[in-house]
Amino acid sequence: MNKKIAVVGAGNVGASCAMYLAEANFADVVMVDIIEGVPQGKGLDLTQAGPVRGYNAMVKGTNKFSDIKGADIVIMTAGLPRKPGMSREDLLKTNASIVESVGKNIKKYAPKSFVIVVSNPLDLMTFHMQKTTGFPKNRVLGQAGVLDSIRFRAFISMELGVAMSDTQAMVLGGHGDTMVPLPRYTTVAGIPISELLPKDKIKAMAQRTAVGGGEIVKLLKTGSAFYAPAAASVDMCKAIFNDEKRLLPASAFLSGQYGIKDIYIGVPVILGAGGVEKIIELKLNKSELKALQTSANTYKSHLKVLGY
Ligand code: 2OP
Repeated sequence: MNKKIAVVGAGNVGASCAMYLAEANFADVVMVDIIEGVPQGKGLDLTQAGPVRGYNAMVKGTNKFSDIKGADIVIMTAGLPRKPGMSREDLLKTNASIVESVGKNIKKYAPKSFVIVVSNPLDLMTFHMQKTTGFPKNRVLGQAGVLDSIRFRAFISMELGVAMSDTQAMVLGGHGDTMVPLPRYTTVAGIPISELLPKDKIKAMAQRTAVGGGEIVKLLKTGSAFYAPAAASVDMCKAIFNDEKRLLPASAFLSGQYGIKDIYIGVPVILGAGGVEKIIELKLNKSELKALQTSANTYKSHLKVLGY
């Protein structure tokens, strides 16, 4: 294949991204990690699954950043995951230094690429990645809203016994405790969720969504979720790669929208060949808007820790 997607990090999220990308069969995959042998082994293993999984994509594992050369899209997954009892913000300094060194390599070897950041704390790491690469803001975005929305959708599906594909949900704000699930924009085949479920049930599901990552960290005990985060990242990657013009929530740079500026935070965007082609401004009610702005303000204070 003559198109290339790079995945940085060969841990659980990175390897799952590589697997879903290979299965999507639209580009070769290069997976880079500093640990010797691991990306190579996982890459070879995934390539060998191709004949029965029906894909031709090659998955190359490497320790050399120069191998990402020419990548159209880079998915950044490297960084420490949470352990039980940790917030995503507890990872701030360690992961910031990883983002910085990776960002410099992306700038050097894939200067025309789009970068989808998955490392936590997500919105802050996306900001840091944009600053480090100096790429235009439409080319650097964070994966979180898709993950949070598919969690909400899965809960709705589990509760109502309806097809996952018929559910739609919108979750905005930071990818953390302040995230803002929006039941008003959540439907099943166009039917508002409020017509299908009582208020308290919806509230409980929205709350479960907000702590959805933590629920999995508690269960796994040794790390955080990876299948759904990887699936969400690949969905975004496809939207850009195939110029799908999807309307998805993503961490994007705001310059006054929703009364928020100079920060990356989860908002609905149009995702296509231009990356973040447009930020959609919903007519939020007072409490929804306040929740989004409160979420943004929390991150502003964290950015100071990074020296911004
Ligand atoms: C999650 O929410 C890892 O942040 C990711 O599961």
